Amino acid sequence: MKILMVCLGNICRSPMAEGIMRHKIEQQKLDWRVDSCGTGGWHVGEPPHPDGQRAMRRRGLDISHQRARQFHGHFLEEYDLICAMDSSNYNDIMRHAKTDEERSKVSMIMNISRPGSNESIPDPYYNDHLYDQVFDMLSEACDAIIEQYALTD
Ligand code: 4NP
Repeated sequence: MKILMVCLGNICRSPMAEGIMRHKIEQQKLDWRVDSCGTGGWHVGEPPHPDGQRAMRRRGLDISHQRARQFHGHFLEEYDLICAMDSSNYNDIMRHAKTDEERSKVSMIMNISRPGSNESIPDPYYNDHLYDQVFDMLSEACDAIIEQYALTD
C-alpha cells in the first residue's frame, strides 16, 4: 500500500499527515509506504513549517527530516491512495487523472473517517492556532485508513 498526502504548500498539513501516518504504520508493523507533496511548488526543498514541527514534537513525532515536493500527474500511477487535505487540492489532483482507476484512488482525507462529510483540513499556514486541531483530525483519518485498508492489503 502506497499512500500520498497532498496539500497546497507541502509545509503544513500534508507533512503532518505523512508523519502521523508513518508513525501508525510503524506501530502496526505494516509494510506500507507514505509520502507527501503539495500542488504548488513555492516551498519545494523546504522542511515542514516550524510551528507544525513543534505541534508534532509535542505529540512525540519528529518530521524535521521531511522536505517539500510538488505533485506530479505520474503520482496517480505510482500511489494506491491519494489523500487531499481540502477540496481545492482534490480538484487540482483530479484534473490530472486520466482513468476511472486513477480517479478512484483520490479522496478528501476526512471522507475516510467521516464518509460523505467533504470536510477540509483547515490551513494552519494562515492561522497558527489550528495546528493541534489539524493534528487531531489527521490522526482520526489515519486511524480510519488503517482500519479500512489493512484488512484488504
Ligand atoms: P499547506 O499550507 O498547504 O498546509 O502546506 C500552505 C503553505 C504555504 C502556502 C499556502 C498554504 N503558501 O501560499 O505559500
